[in-house]
Amino acid sequence: MKKNLNFFTLAAIIFLISCAGNKKNIISIDLDHGWKFKTGDDLSWAKPEADDSKWDSISTGKLWEEQGHDNYDGYAWYRIKVLIPSSLKESSYLKDSLQFILGKIDDCDQFFLNGTLIGENNTLTSNPIADSIFSKLSGFYATDRNYILAVNSPKILWDKENVLAVRVSDHGGGGGMYSSHLRIQMMDIRDKILIDKSSSSFKFEGDKTNKTYVIKNGSGIGLKGKLTITANIDETKEVLYTFEENLDLKPGESKEYPVSFKAVTNATSVNFVFKHSDSKIVVESTDQAPYILTPKSGDEPKINGARVVGVRPGKPFLFNIPATGLRPMTFEAKNLPQGLVVDANTGIITGKVSQKGDYKIALTAKNSKGEVTRELIIKVGDQIMLTPPMGWNSWNCWGLSVDQKKVIQSAHVFKEKGLMEHGWAFINIDDGWEAKRDAKGEILANEKFPNMKALGDSLHKLGLKFGIYSSPGPLTCGGYTASYQHEAQDAKTYAKWGIDYLKYDWCSYGQIAKDNSLAELKKPYVVMQKALSEVDRDIVYSLCQYGMGNVWEWGSEVNGNLWRTTGDIVDTWESLSQIGFNQVKNAPNAGPGHWNDPDMLIVGWVGWGPSLHPTRLTINEQYTHISLWSLLSAPLLIGCDLNRLDDFTLNLLTNDEVIDINQDPLGKQATPKITKGNTQIWVKELEDGGKAVGIFNLGDKSEKVTVTLSEIGITEKQNVRDVWRQKDMGTFDTSFETSVGSHGVMLLKLSAK
Ligand code: GAL
Repeated sequence: MKKNLNFFTLAAIIFLISCAGNKKNIISIDLDHGWKFKTGDDLSWAKPEADDSKWDSISTGKLWEEQGHDNYDGYAWYRIKVLIPSSLKESSYLKDSLQFILGKIDDCDQFFLNGTLIGENNTLTSNPIADSIFSKLSGFYATDRNYILAVNSPKILWDKENVLAVRVSDHGGGGGMYSSHLRIQMMDIRDKILIDKSSSSFKFEGDKTNKTYVIKNGSGIGLKGKLTITANIDETKEVLYTFEENLDLKPGESKEYPVSFKAVTNATSVNFVFKHSDSKIVVESTDQAPYILTPKSGDEPKINGARVVGVRPGKPFLFNIPATGLRPMTFEAKNLPQGLVVDANTGIITGKVSQKGDYKIALTAKNSKGEVTRELIIKVGDQIMLTPPMGWNSWNCWGLSVDQKKVIQSAHVFKEKGLMEHGWAFINIDDGWEAKRDAKGEILANEKFPNMKALGDSLHKLGLKFGIYSSPGPLTCGGYTASYQHEAQDAKTYAKWGIDYLKYDWCSYGQIAKDNSLAELKKPYVVMQKALSEVDRDIVYSLCQYGMGNVWEWGSEVNGNLWRTTGDIVDTWESLSQIGFNQVKNAPNAGPGHWNDPDMLIVGWVGWGPSLHPTRLTINEQYTHISLWSLLSAPLLIGCDLNRLDDFTLNLLTNDEVIDINQDPLGKQATPKITKGNTQIWVKELEDGGKAVGIFNLGDKSEKVTVTLSEIGITEKQNVRDVWRQKDMGTFDTSFETSVGSHGVMLLKLSAK
């Protein structure tokens, strides 16, 4: 009875979506509800007759970890029964193929219809670890699953019950199907007019914003209709650009459309509307244009970045004074403790201090336009990484295809594009540098890294710090040699190479750990903690085990300076918002020397190597990303190809007032104070008594937000500053109003007048 009810409910969920100006209806079958789920693996579960009546119900809108299958890695199956009515065919103009839209699946999947394999994303092997590594490298976990069959395929049972089965494998981080609006629908004109928004990026030329789009006819028939392209400011609707033409594209033909409009500092959309003459079907698509908010740095000297740094007694100290302004510039550092010296031309402070203590240094930067002095506190003691690390890591762009040249190039971009002037300091190699061990068991770098020591030296000479990656297991996640049973030896090798930062990633330690108990989760991290404490350098200890066993509760016990709180991030709004807005229960555990790490940044050109694409985050989403990570006191590790650092991304990463929020010496992590509908207001207490406030809009439309000061714990009159624009908005007694674009943010600093 239950089974039948389920089937008929599903069969009844047929959506009629009216298409503008179109008499016909597009029909799609909703697949968002009614799935059954079982962990484990048995190929007979693909068969229609398999009994799933005792399987769990599951939502395909969120990962299985969020639905009671905490830390489950391995295989699992999803099944659903659906009536596919033949009337569906009528809903399409092209009438040639049926598509099954299954959304994103973490990591790998095979899709079966009525017992037959239709397709797969990733080759599933008997080894889920290998599957997941391959998936990560190929970005499959962020790929939309869209399986297509010809309407006359005998695999489709028209007007009958069809059984859809999805075999999923996952290792590490989240697992399972995790999108909404899953459906079955006919392919149509809308799927065949392809508007390519990512083959070129926006350019700022003079006072103009320019981009060239390509429109392609992906169908087998000629397509004629009216094309309109407009650009308008989202908020005011002011039209910046319009273009119209009668489009006529042969099968497979494509055409370029250069779009140009005046640069603005507000969210702006470029809208495409194509009206197909014959069917009257309307195809719409939108792109968001970048808008630069950070004002240009001035010519006069200004010192930026961290105001407090830690070093252990007797360990090498390296600090580059981050300062913007005209070059040449000279530097001074007064009251340096014995053992430290500053290079007056580069502003790099080096040396060793044996005496514990807090040293207040007066840093001065001088150029032809003037001079400036700012205090830096050097704390010589047990704790390092007193503000979150800021740097670059190779993983989100290059994946395993990282090599020495790419690392050196990144370091040069840090210098040449001025990132170092804003406090960016670490250059970290992720997985993919390792070779085998030599006869004495010493780890060797592979042919892509011919001389690690020389690489370290060259980075240090530039004033940069050098990071590396390993795993406590026998192999890294990418399948390279890792540190198991060689921990002390590896720590010594790292010290010899001049390593300043180690990311230590659980990976294959899963095969060594006896179980998932806290003791077993901590064990490998204690072993490496000891090894690191015995070398003659400070090495920042970055724990990466995706948050298992609430790592934030014990990470600092094993001397972790940061710990990943989640699985891997990808460059989608789902991933960003799911991770970013859920960093709540770990907030009390962040503080100077120990930070929650919601994973690396996904702005710029990313792709997990070797082929990259511009981030799929919209402009508003990118402002949200950097604002939220700053409020969270999260480590800021740029994950993009720095050779392709465009003006917008550079601007996003070099706003000193935003960075100040991240680097605030108090080291508090923001928490959400108000959640109303799609709006969330996050507040971070700052050392100077002020508050950083992020007003986020998680919804699809622009929102007007009234911030009532008492609701965020403020009783006095406040000066409100727009941090991105670096502009005061005025003083407010009780409340103020602002508007926030879809998936966007207003980042403010509030201080009592
Ligand atoms: C993952 C980790 C990634 C990256 C990768 C390397 O487990 O979360 O950030 O380090 O391994 O293989």
